[in-house]
Amino acid sequence: MTTPTRVLLLNSSILGDNGQSRGLAAHFRAQAERRGGVTITERDLVSDALPHLDGAELGSWMIEPAERDAAQRELAARSETLLEEFFAHDVIVLAAPLYNLGIPSQLKAWFDRVLRAGRTFRYTENGPQGLVEGKRALVLAARGGQYAGTPLDSQTPHLTHMLGLMGIGDVEFVYAEGLAMGDEARESALGEAHQAIDALVDRL
Ligand SMILES: Cc1cc2nc3c(=O)[nH]c(=O)nc-3n(C[C@H](O)[C@H](O)[C@H](O)COP(=O)(O)O)c2cc1C
Repeated sequence: MTTPTRVLLLNSSILGDNGQSRGLAAHFRAQAERRGGVTITERDLVSDALPHLDGAELGSWMIEPAERDAAQRELAARSETLLEEFFAHDVIVLAAPLYNLGIPSQLKAWFDRVLRAGRTFRYTENGPQGLVEGKRALVLAARGGQYAGTPLDSQTPHLTHMLGLMGIGDVEFVYAEGLAMGDEARESALGEAHQAIDALVDRL
C-alpha cells in the first residue's frame, strides 16, 4: 500500500461560510477525498487566530529550551506546534483571499511562525537558503478584481518568495478572479477554478 499524501490546508478568509477561498478549499477537499490516497489536516487561521509576532515571542526562540521560563516556554510552543504540523505534511494548500492587495494578516501571522532561521531556512554568505525538502504548495486564490499576470499582483510573488525562502519551489496557483465583477464573471471564474483544482487533485 502506498503512503497517503499528507495535505495541510490553511484557511484564512474572514468572511466565514461566504468566503470564496473557503469554497475553493472545500471543493479541493471533497475532490481529494473522493480520489483517495490523502490525509487532510485543516487549520483555520481565523477561528484559531494567531496574534501578531512580537519581540517577546521572537526573543523566546533565541533562548535555549532548558533556560526558558514558563512564559517563554508558552510563547515558543506556538511556533513549535506550527512547525511540527508543517513538517508533518507533504503538500501545503493555502486558501488565500486577496485583502487590500495582499494576504490576510492571519495568514501572514502563520508565515511569521514557520519562516524561522535555523529551522526552515538559514542565512549563508550567498544569501538565505531553504532547509525544507520534499514539499510542494498549492495556492487557491480568491480575488474581487483581476490582477494575475499584472504588476498589481503583489500577492503572487509574496507567497512564492515566502515559500521559496524555505525551499518550497514547487508552487502552483489557482486563481478565482473577478469575484466582485458581477454574477456572470463570478460564476465563470469559480467554474474555471474548480476545473483547475480537479486537475491538480489528479496529480496529488
Ligand atoms: C477587507 C477586504 C479587502 C479586500 N481587498 C481587495 C483588493 O485589494 N483587491 C481585490 O481585488 N479584492 C479585494 N477584496 C475582495 C476579495 O478579494 C474577495 O471578496 C475575495 O472573495 C476574498 O476571498 P474570501 O472570499 O475567501 O474572503 C477585499 C475584500 C475584503 C473583505
